[in-house]
Amino acid sequence: MWAIEVKDLMKRYRGNGFAAVDHISFSVESGEMFALLGPNGAGKTTAIKILTTLLKPTSGTAKVAGFDVGKDKDSVRKSIGIVFQEPSLDWRLTGRENLDFHARIYGIGREERERRLEEVLKLVELEDKADVVVDKYSGGMKRSLELARGFIHSPKVLFLDEPTLGLDTQTRRRIWDYIRELNDSEGVTIVLTTHHMEEADYLCERVGIMDRGKIIALETPKNLKDLIGSDLVSLEMNTGSYEVEVFKKLDFVTDFIAHEGFVTLKMERGDLRIPAIMEVAKLAGIEIKSVNLRKPSLEDVFLHFTGRRIRE
Ligand SMILES: Nc1ncnc2c1ncn2[C@@H]1O[C@H](COP(=O)(O)OP(=O)(O)OP(=O)(O)O)[C@@H](O)[C@H]1O
Ligand SMILES: [Mg+2]
Repeated sequence: MWAIEVKDLMKRYRGNGFAAVDHISFSVESGEMFALLGPNGAGKTTAIKILTTLLKPTSGTAKVAGFDVGKDKDSVRKSIGIVFQEPSLDWRLTGRENLDFHARIYGIGREERERRLEEVLKLVELEDKADVVVDKYSGGMKRSLELARGFIHSPKVLFLDEPTLGLDTQTRRRIWDYIRELNDSEGVTIVLTTHHMEEADYLCERVGIMDRGKIIALETPKNLKDLIGSDLVSLEMNTGSYEVEVFKKLDFVTDFIAHEGFVTLKMERGDLRIPAIMEVAKLAGIEIKSVNLRKPSLEDVFLHFTGRRIRE
């Protein structure tokens, strides 16, 4: 069963000459963890806002939990939870009060509310801080509380817009674990946006890579990486202009891409090829500053499709 069905969705903001979301289509299965991965301005938040009924699309359709986001807003809203990119807690209230207020809005009865409150506080490990005002929470604790608030009413679909933006690595990993736990224990469908390759890779069964309003690839992280192939050898070169095409002469190089001072070569058994690569570089008068051998990451996938790095 589909939790989300998006068909030919387009959004052009008034005054903009371009489409922020440019005719995208995708579906997310019930219980799936799905990521929209892309750089700043790719259109991720715009897409999430349409799916959560906060923004009207210019054209196209979207269904969430079986309901049309245009025609059946109330049913969509009852079926979803949202964690916004921008923090949206009431800082003057305690963690418990924030959660309680939200649960009341959803009309959850007292007994159920109290049970659920303890449950979600436990999951995000905030039991001890429940009665402290949010103003005194750390960034990671605030984000954890927002996550708890997003699913206290047991939504079918949970939207997380940049759930770990600005958090340190350790806190980020903890939040990843909460998200996983939530998906495991409650079977909630999760749609998250991120520019964090590792986040999408670690959490999601499928990833839609978004750039300039379009979904340019949609696959499992593994298939996306397999698409790039085996080993990648990146050479950092001294500034100056060189004919990087010389690397094409190496018959084991199956593909190559040059980008700001780097050239990345694709090949099998890169570990055995480095001496030959260095030799060719030397003959061509190219000075190599550093060499890096790795398996493809989603970053390489992005580079492959766009010719740019995601963090520019
Ligand atoms: N209210 C608005 N009015 C006009 N243009 C907007 C508005 N909101 C977003 N945009 C533009 O739409 C494009 C997509 O923005 P969006 O916020 O959806 O990107 P994003 O992928 O979420 O980026 P980020 O990773 O920075 O959060 C950008 O070019 C942005 O400037
Ligand atoms: Mg955004």
